[in-house]
Amino acid sequence: MLTTLGLLLSLALPVLGTYVSISCPSHNQCQRALLSGNDILLHCPSTGARWYYLQADETSRPTNVLHVFNTDILSEGSLLIRSPQPSQTGYYRCQDPNGTQVVQYEIDFQDVTTLHITHKGLGQKPLQNETLSPNEATLMFTRWEPWQDCNRCGEPGERKRLGYCYIQEPLLEPMPCWLYQDEAKTWSSRMQPELQIEACLEECKPSEGFTWEYVTFDSFNFNKESESVWLSCPLGSIYRPVIWEADNVPLTWRDQLSSQDFSASMDSSTGGSQLQIFRPAIYTCFVQQELVARFNPTSEPEVLLSHGREEAGGRQETGKADSVLKGLKLMLLVGTVLALAGALFKVLRPFQGKKCNQVLLVK
Ligand SMILES: *[C@@H]1O[C@H](CO)[C@@H](O)[C@H](O)[C@H]1NC(C)=O
Ligand SMILES: *[C@@H]1O[C@H](CO)[C@@H](O)[C@H](O)[C@H]1NC(C)=O
Repeated sequence: MLTTLGLLLSLALPVLGTYVSISCPSHNQCQRALLSGNDILLHCPSTGARWYYLQADETSRPTNVLHVFNTDILSEGSLLIRSPQPSQTGYYRCQDPNGTQVVQYEIDFQDVTTLHITHKGLGQKPLQNETLSPNEATLMFTRWEPWQDCNRCGEPGERKRLGYCYIQEPLLEPMPCWLYQDEAKTWSSRMQPELQIEACLEECKPSEGFTWEYVTFDSFNFNKESESVWLSCPLGSIYRPVIWEADNVPLTWRDQLSSQDFSASMDSSTGGSQLQIFRPAIYTCFVQQELVARFNPTSEPEVLLSHGREEAGGRQETGKADSVLKGLKLMLLVGTVLALAGALFKVLRPFQGKKCNQVLLVK
């Protein structure tokens, strides 16, 4: 059932425009490295846009993305790629209805399962630069993104930054490794994207008196068969600051990477948006320092959904959980979709009003 919930959530989100998106000026070509496994929206300002995909080697022919199972074209023309695979590295072309090219993205989806993770506080070192034979002047290095915001405010937290593998030939612009590889057929064991983490302490931004609403899932239970359960934080992404708390105690990468915490394990390939838990507790997750969801253990296999209400700053729950969705499985499903969509809409509005314009753009 958790899987279904995750699926519904991700279906509800694109309509609300809450995906991490990247954009490129009209009539330009933009080259980017990104990570596999994390949904991404490629922006194209053309209603009725058509999208074509080409592999980076010159021999392939353009494929209409309608034939690609994990993509969707949103009404305003943008292309949503759900959990992109490293094999989907290549060129994404957007054409207007007349067949004129509006924009082309050259995307290297670097394999998130090979992420090289280091924590500054544990003295772990990122990958070294490497020269490539036969041409010793060709350099393989990590190009770092800016640090993301701290995952908590007012108290010690952690922040992360992503680093992508790039190759630079003398006098040429650096290229993402796998786009380069498709042309030059080089390979090295250093070809890995990176994730670096460090401790941080950030002031809380002054509250603007928003009423913040979050989703509560009375949704997981431990039974004889399940030794662990996966929780998925709505709106979470490797491109955004995420943090989990178990019974109000924050889970840290430091503890996890130094193997001190065995009660829960953050999935690094989603930047910690997915959490594998081994004991019942109340789990809460925060995205961009805002409470987004609360997961309560339940002893029954059915899923109840309710939503809480929270005053910004005060963080008290004023809404009472309405317990719905008992009875027929069909009712349960339909109800869940509607309630989730409704709850999410409420959750997401403050994002849009408040910080989302900056937050959601990876640029
Ligand atoms: C498409 O072509 C028609 C006719 O040539 C033209 O009127 C229209 O402005 C064009 N649309 C776009 C989006 O270029
Ligand atoms: C690695 O290469 C990059 C790109 O040329 C450069 O900016 C960086 O300073 C180098 N790092 C080291 C440790 O040499």
